[in-house]
Amino acid sequence: MNSMNPLDIYQRMADEAKSREEAKTEKTRILVGTATCGVAAGALKVRDEFVKGIEKKGLDAEVIEVGCMGHCYAEPMAVIAKPGFPPMCYGKLDDGLVNRLVEDYLAGDDPCYEYALAALERNDVFPTFEDFPRGVHEEKLILGQCGYIDAGDINSFLARDGYSALAKALEDEPLAVLNEVKAANLRGRGGAGFPAGDKWEACLSSSENEKYVICNADEGDPGAFMDRSILESDPHLVIEGMVLCAYAIGAQKGYLYIRAEYPRAVRHVQQAIDQARQMGLLGNAILGTKFNFDLEVFQGSGAFVCGEATALVNSMEGKMGLPESRPPRLAQKGYRGKPTILNNVKTFAYVPLIIRNGADWFKSIGTPDSPGTAVFSLVGKVVNTGLVEVPMGTTLRQLIYEVGDGLPNAKEFKAVQIGGPSGGCLPESALDVPIDFDSLHDAGAIMGSGGLVVMDQDDCMVAVARYFLEFTQHESCGKCTFCRLGTKHMLDILTDITDGKGTMESLTLLEELAEDVRDGSLCNLGRTAPNPVLTTLKYFRDEYRAHIEEGRCPALVCRDLILYYIKPPKCSKLCNVCVGSCPTEAIFTREDGLKEIDQEKCVKCDNCLKACPPEYNAIVKLSPPVLPKEKEGAVK
Ligand SMILES: Cc1cc2nc3c(=O)[nH]c(=O)nc-3n(C[C@H](O)[C@H](O)[C@H](O)COP(=O)(O)O)c2cc1C
Ligand code: SF4
Ligand code: SF4
Repeated sequence: MNSMNPLDIYQRMADEAKSREEAKTEKTRILVGTATCGVAAGALKVRDEFVKGIEKKGLDAEVIEVGCMGHCYAEPMAVIAKPGFPPMCYGKLDDGLVNRLVEDYLAGDDPCYEYALAALERNDVFPTFEDFPRGVHEEKLILGQCGYIDAGDINSFLARDGYSALAKALEDEPLAVLNEVKAANLRGRGGAGFPAGDKWEACLSSSENEKYVICNADEGDPGAFMDRSILESDPHLVIEGMVLCAYAIGAQKGYLYIRAEYPRAVRHVQQAIDQARQMGLLGNAILGTKFNFDLEVFQGSGAFVCGEATALVNSMEGKMGLPESRPPRLAQKGYRGKPTILNNVKTFAYVPLIIRNGADWFKSIGTPDSPGTAVFSLVGKVVNTGLVEVPMGTTLRQLIYEVGDGLPNAKEFKAVQIGGPSGGCLPESALDVPIDFDSLHDAGAIMGSGGLVVMDQDDCMVAVARYFLEFTQHESCGKCTFCRLGTKHMLDILTDITDGKGTMESLTLLEELAEDVRDGSLCNLGRTAPNPVLTTLKYFRDEYRAHIEEGRCPALVCRDLILYYIKPPKCSKLCNVCVGSCPTEAIFTREDGLKEIDQEKCVKCDNCLKACPPEYNAIVKLSPPVLPKEKEGAVK
């Protein structure tokens, strides 16, 4: 049993944090979203502009940096919380809009509703995010505080019941934590959906005294940024989950393995670790008990394969980041040969919520076999790109059309790539598949760690399969022959097809190779590398056939299978816009005054197509690349 009462110690800490936070609400606060996505969109400039405006006007207001609220389509964003008004969120901020807000709202009393995105609290005047069609589906558990709390101040987390699950757990036996996680059927969010409780139990049953807890924040999938956003926006939630895990299995030391390309995440996590240690929530005698556990950040150097559990451990030990065959599992023999728990960022983030609210609460969300929520980075051809969290069981159609608000520019949906390079491309007919580990697997995709790329009519599925295979081929560690050479051979075949040199025999070979690579590879990089190829072959075989049999790319993407053509009747004659846009001087004026493209010089850059004024719309792409016979004049 514990020597002191952790709940009392915690309560004092939380009460103090709450009164500090409350004191802050007495003056106007501007919360600027400065996670990496916001910064890329110009959030630091927005922050500086607010600070400058406040100083200039001599206002009593504070600018606070927060993380990502998930509305990437509206970055840079800020929330203005002014006493007497509901907190209001503004998006797509620039200098002009910031100055207007300073002038009219901070210095005056006009909240500039015409520029507001949503209110954060119910009020009589303006809708909240929950009133958006997206709000109907979203259920934010682990993203709940992202973008609203100050990641750089532990009090911001403590004031919202942060670390209360730890305090509650420390009042009880470690086994209670394990039992709750098992009862919740928490499945790992790093890709495979392995039950966290079973893994933890295997580690607990080891007689070794030295054990480790590692958080996998390698996140190398193209298009995925869920784990980074959580670490940047709410790092203490992940830390609390790791401490709870350590308590459950009896570990004394843990690491967050974060790729070095995530400097903001590294900084925020390091800051959070330092603060938690200072407050007695990490280190020796946590919350006055005999439980000791400390954390360190380990920076990975960014190889995709190092996200694989055994490769990750090897790289932490200073060895080459190569996967090992299992068993033994890490839970028996992991870091430094000791029992180790390795879980994804999101998996750990759920743990405090499960301990706080109970397994039944968690199971009341999602589906019976995949309880809880799914977090996705929704990107590609979708109106509302961003970070979303929906209950498991939500369909892909709801996610894309209601949460994401459909496809921009009235384009037709073609496919959704789910699960990154290990996942698959699903067509329109699969859009009613519920999002959960097993349904997605049955449809040929996987949950993966949460990357979701929407594609429209302008995307070529052969080129997409080639893109993902090029990624995995490049990232293969080379240990297995099938992965090293098989993916290379597959890539060569795909390249031939996109170049218009494929044959139907090579397609058969591609399928055979895909099966061999899947069956003959050691780790899931190789085993899943064929997935984008196999799913596109299954659902978009016609596109492969068109490339091979007709030399035609239906989406007009593959460069060797298209040409650019100026339709004579549509060309205005006098407009020279396309000529100026061409980097290779491929467009010339014919004797009749019309424009024409010298196909030898054209590098298919797309500039002229974009430049031709919409009222003429004279430039088209043709596939197969055959020039039409012109009545009006000779074709060069
Ligand atoms: C090539 C490859 C890359 C991976 N990258 C990650 C990653 O970036 N993050 C992650 O959590 N899991 C990744 N995984 C899965 C891990 O091996 C492991 O299953 C996971 O971290 C376990 O955590 P979970 O049980 O919480 O899902 C990767 C697997 C492979 C084969
Ligand atoms: S499957 Fe590929 S990445 Fe995995 S161990 Fe083998 S060669 Fe390396
Ligand atoms: S596609 Fe590019 S290179 Fe070709 S004609 Fe148009 S602008 Fe010139």
